[in-house]
Amino acid sequence: MAIDPTKIRSQFPSLLRKHDAKPLIYLDGPGGTQVPSSVMEAISNYYKNSNTNTHGLFVTSRETDDMILSLRKSVATFLGAEGPHTISVGQNMTTLNYALARGIARILQNGDEVLITQLDHEGNRGPWLSLREHGVVVKEVSLKKDGTLDYDDFEQKINNRTQLVAMGVASNALGTVNDIAKARELTYRYSAWLLLDAVHYAPHFSIDVQSMGCDFLLCSAYKFYGPHIGLLYAKPGILDQIPTDRLRTAEQMAPYSIETGTLNHAALAGVTEAIEFIAHNGEGDDLRPRLRHAYKSIGQHERSLAEKFYNGLLSIPGVEVIGPDFSHILRAPTISFTMEGKSPIRVCEFLSEKNVCTWDGHFYAVRAIEVLGLLERGGVTRVGFSIYNTPEEVDQTLGHIQELSEN
Ligand SMILES: Cc1ncc(COP(=O)(O)O)c(C=O)c1O
Repeated sequence: MAIDPTKIRSQFPSLLRKHDAKPLIYLDGPGGTQVPSSVMEAISNYYKNSNTNTHGLFVTSRETDDMILSLRKSVATFLGAEGPHTISVGQNMTTLNYALARGIARILQNGDEVLITQLDHEGNRGPWLSLREHGVVVKEVSLKKDGTLDYDDFEQKINNRTQLVAMGVASNALGTVNDIAKARELTYRYSAWLLLDAVHYAPHFSIDVQSMGCDFLLCSAYKFYGPHIGLLYAKPGILDQIPTDRLRTAEQMAPYSIETGTLNHAALAGVTEAIEFIAHNGEGDDLRPRLRHAYKSIGQHERSLAEKFYNGLLSIPGVEVIGPDFSHILRAPTISFTMEGKSPIRVCEFLSEKNVCTWDGHFYAVRAIEVLGLLERGGVTRVGFSIYNTPEEVDQTLGHIQELSEN
């Protein structure tokens, strides 16, 4: 079932908005995608019908409890997890990761080690770097010039003292997809926990936490057509071992033990609908097969746009693509580049004048941009493709970049 851009686009009200009487081209998906009407309606319906707090005996409260349970079930299916008790929710990925790191800090010993990577977003580095305050040794796996991780360095840095490896599945800066099977093999060898940041992977690829063999996985619904909500998967039994911050009055076990205070109920209703929106693009009897099937079509659609854009960039003088090429079968549809004589901020400014939304800089993957020697030069320009983008948008954007290169 191929993605039909016209059908998809009709579901996104924001694609109708105009600026200077012309439509916008949204290539800023890696920073957060647009949202379909069904998600907006789910949020608004919650406020219209069931808005209240949890655990009351009256109807709206019971509906709120049911809605939150059904959200956990649908995220569990989305991630291929063991069940709703493995899914915790929070404000965003970074906040959940910090809460987890604070809890894990309480069980680690002086001299224990944690391994992070140079490629990761700060949301998956900062929380673990903060463990240094507790005497934990934090090491980082090197990034190679081609935008992939150095797995020899990984193998050299992991050892019997390593308690946790925190790494991304896909890079929001370069589009690299990491070798999770290799990471899992190494973490098994040394009995370390594997924590995966799937924020940039979740919009583009189907996830199966059980076959990935991870202990924790985090993602953010606003990157996959949902509202601003962070999601945490923790393998059954693990979160219960971690002394997270929790009130005496709160539920003390997983998945609740890392959720502090009242959740954003309406947004949670929107997350369930965002997963439904993705699944609608696939066929099958149940949510899981529909999602897996849908991701095949989404992946093909986005990859063909990204590859077209990548090939077009290669023919523009002075443009250098930063990150893996398309010989990589697994690669996110996110392309970063530099232009000779034009700073990334200038490129984005120019594209913005043409109604094309792109990001410049480091996108919080600041360590990666730093080790690639690009920080002083303003980082890179990043273009990301989402389900609603079209080949015409690729052509128009390439035309603008060509024009800029000639000025
Ligand atoms: C790869 C990656 N990890 C983590 C984050 C942080 O996510 P959040 O904004 O939900 O904290 C982002 C956000 O851009 C990201 O792209």
